[in-house]
Amino acid sequence: MKALTWQGRRDVRVEDVPDPTIEQPNDIVIDVTTTGLCGSDLHLYETLGAFLHPGDILGHEPMGVVVEKGPAVPNLEVGDRVVVPFQISCGSCFMCDRGLHTQCETTQVTDHGMGAQLFGYTDLYGAVPGGQAELLRVPHADFGPLKIESDLPDERFVYLSDVVPTAWQSVEYTGVQPGETLLVVGLGPIGEMAARIALHRGVRVLGIDLVGARLRRSARLGVETVELGPDSADQVRDLTAGRGADAVIDAVGMEAHGSPFAEAAQRVAGLLPDALAQPLMKNASVDRLSALRLAIDAARRGATISLAGVYAGAADTLPMQTIFDKQLTIRTGQANVRRWLDDALPLALADGDPLGLETFATHRVPLAEAPEAYATFQAKEDDAIKIVFTP
Ligand SMILES: NC(=O)c1ccc[n+]([C@@H]2O[C@H](COP(=O)([O-])OP(=O)(O)OC[C@H]3O[C@@H](n4cnc5c(N)ncnc54)[C@H](O)[C@@H]3O)[C@@H](O)[C@H]2O)c1
Ligand SMILES: [Zn+2]
Ligand SMILES: [Zn+2]
Repeated sequence: MKALTWQGRRDVRVEDVPDPTIEQPNDIVIDVTTTGLCGSDLHLYETLGAFLHPGDILGHEPMGVVVEKGPAVPNLEVGDRVVVPFQISCGSCFMCDRGLHTQCETTQVTDHGMGAQLFGYTDLYGAVPGGQAELLRVPHADFGPLKIESDLPDERFVYLSDVVPTAWQSVEYTGVQPGETLLVVGLGPIGEMAARIALHRGVRVLGIDLVGARLRRSARLGVETVELGPDSADQVRDLTAGRGADAVIDAVGMEAHGSPFAEAAQRVAGLLPDALAQPLMKNASVDRLSALRLAIDAARRGATISLAGVYAGAADTLPMQTIFDKQLTIRTGQANVRRWLDDALPLALADGDPLGLETFATHRVPLAEAPEAYATFQAKEDDAIKIVFTP
């Protein structure tokens, strides 16, 4: 089959690789019909190379049709249409019982001290082949995949693999209420979807980014946009009676624009042999925290900040005095995808497509064009906001 493989920093290629097969009784193999490109893939493209190997298959936002199944998957049949959560969880351990699927104790990557396995996401998350491919082996298919019993197009459902539950959790974690003001820092796919969900709930939404096309698209949805600049937090206070936002989502993460030193350090780590770069990426102060600092600054006293953006590294300084004095709550983590699907699925199925899922992607391209799409998405060229592939 054909699959998008990582070969080195900013070097991904579509290659012929062996077809996946059933390895465990609760595996399925799907024929992928639509598969997303995510901001999280950009961390692999640029920054986290120390945890990847040439030939690794990327991608964690797939949906498709079951073509093969093991004997222990009573919930699915060959021919069923499914969307696959980006994390692999068992559904029956201590953590899964508590809705913390991203901490699943059956699939936790204990060698690296990390949470549940993810598709297409480095040694840190289990080195599981990803979904930007013609075929995908799905472990723990007796729990993870969501069966789609509808003829609506893939676009209605493919974002249930990641974008929608991630955005949903980020909004839930803020506890924001109708009529309150939510600030979304970063208006990429995750931030924009969080804004759509919050607006749908009657929340006032402010949004910050530096890319014109993203600011304009969010503004058309009803987001009050602020262009990223030195006075962004002051502008948020001006719009909120001087207090700051009731709730804030950081939908940027560690590729934040505005920390040139950290950017250089990440690049150096990318040039080192893996054995040297891995501890550097895990422990050193190589992150770019400018989006989180902005979130802390623009939050009102007593606010909750929800971190959807992905961070790595351990030794970064945070303004603890401000966090403590402003009495902020910070909630973080990968999205517990299955935790939110029952809540989100009705909106995906709803008449009139209230979240605008069918028109969410700006680009739909053949998998063969994925290398160019990665470059376009990373550079934020061609007004690319969400790209999906047809394998
Ligand atoms: N928690 C999860 O489960 C989960 C799931 C999916 C994605 N993510 C993470 O969410 C983040 C966003 O993902 P995405 O797909 O929307 O990616 P993206 O890279 O397209 O979006 C990030 C946006 O932030 C903007 N930005 C950069 N620096 C900024 C700054 N200093 N201030 C304000 N805006 C800034 C960029 O212009 C861009 O529009 C990434 O870190 C991704 O890894 C997390
Ligand atoms: Zn994703
Ligand atoms: Zn589990």
